[in-house]
Amino acid sequence: MAGSTEAEAVADLIRRAFAQYRDRLTPPATALSVTAEDIAAAMTQGPVLVALVEGVPVGCVTVTGFDDFAYAGRLSVLPDWRGRGIGQALMQAAEEAARGLGRSRLRVETRLANTANRAFYRALGYVEGAERSHPGFTVPTYVQMEKSLI
Ligand SMILES: CC(C)(COP(=O)(O)OP(=O)(O)OC[C@H]1O[C@@H](n2cnc3c(N)ncnc32)[C@H](O)[C@@H]1OP(=O)(O)O)[C@@H](O)C(=O)NCCC(=O)NCCS
Repeated sequence: MAGSTEAEAVADLIRRAFAQYRDRLTPPATALSVTAEDIAAAMTQGPVLVALVEGVPVGCVTVTGFDDFAYAGRLSVLPDWRGRGIGQALMQAAEEAARGLGRSRLRVETRLANTANRAFYRALGYVEGAERSHPGFTVPTYVQMEKSLI
């Protein structure tokens, strides 16, 4: 779990992981402008899990408890470290953290247009549910996906 001194390192990691979406998403990904203050705030809501390689952060995910589910957000793996199971390991750790918070479901959200991410989460057992719209949009832009942890 990240401590407050790591907030800037985690924010920088997220911005770098999401940089591939710059000028490619409508609306733009808020992760592109995430700040250390945002991460420090997330740390007050639940665990921020960080994958370290020789002490250097290469991946992360935030976990937040809601009434009857937990939410995993900002899943990030630096480009050079992808395809090695780190994203999957982070999601497994997020599921353990959600259980630790006493929640029996873990939710993620991803853009409808991002078929790669939808396939990634489906492969990990997440089931597509409600399609939602970002504020100001009349058509659905993202989908909620959930996994039962029971
Ligand atoms: C999505 C992301 C976290 C995946 O991280 P990763 O460490 O590369 O994922 P893993 O190596 O654990 O992959 C796990 C499985 O998913 C598959 N997978 C991973 N990324 C995939 C992609 N873009 N498209 C299709 N399959 C993918 C892998 O092939 C692997 O399958 P396998 O076990 O059969 O080989 C990473 O690509 C990323 O940081 N993307 C940018 C930020 C982002 O979009 N985050 C999610 C926001 S909802």
